[in-house]
Amino acid sequence: MHFTQQHIAALEKHSRAHFINSLSGFKSANLIGTQDTAGNTNLSIVSSVVHLGAHPPLIGMIMRPHSVPRHTFENILATGVYTINHVNSKIYKQAHQTSARYDQDESEFTATGLTPEYLNEFNAPFVQQSRLKYAVKYLEHQHLAVNGTELVIGEITDVYFDEIALQSDGFLDLTAVDTVAVSGLDSYHGVNKLQRLPYAKK
Ligand SMILES: Cc1cc2nc3c(=O)[nH]c(=O)nc-3n(C[C@H](O)[C@H](O)[C@H](O)COP(=O)(O)O)c2cc1C
Repeated sequence: MHFTQQHIAALEKHSRAHFINSLSGFKSANLIGTQDTAGNTNLSIVSSVVHLGAHPPLIGMIMRPHSVPRHTFENILATGVYTINHVNSKIYKQAHQTSARYDQDESEFTATGLTPEYLNEFNAPFVQQSRLKYAVKYLEHQHLAVNGTELVIGEITDVYFDEIALQSDGFLDLTAVDTVAVSGLDSYHGVNKLQRLPYAKK
């Protein structure tokens, strides 16, 4: 099949979203934990998390346009901290449910039954059921004029994980902690590892 630019533009709105959202491949499924200055907790699934650099350890994510209330983005700007929690096969349905539009004073933790966990006095909640999670300190955001989205950049400060995932060279085996992948906006996938390869040299 061949879909041209005209064909894509003519697709029904939801079909076009499903179609285009599939193209960026299998993505990570993450729960972003935040709270507002009054301590109201918030949890939101985000798949656009991207590695920006290892030293210093920087992580980016794309937030939808701030044309309507965006609790995760607002909480990050207000408190300067957030958590990123890997989604596993036991919690992907609850993780998906966090994408519903809850009010500011309604916690997705309460709504989905996921458990907030506070670690080492960090001012944002982790997801207790997640087996690989990390604390992030907000550094900056870039407004992307092309479509109004926001690239949020933060520094990873603390990482919490099941010991079984850690290999001797520092690699974290995500299959050992049952981390899942997502494609499009609603398709969740278990992951089979094929192989780790040696550093490529010419
Ligand atoms: C699989 C999946 C991936 C998503 N990825 C993102 C994303 O990368 N960025 C984003 O802003 N919203 C993303 N969303 C939508 C948010 O989860 C949704 O807008 C949520 O209501 C935001 O909640 P908040 O207002 O509490 O921050 C995604 C939703 C789903 C189901």
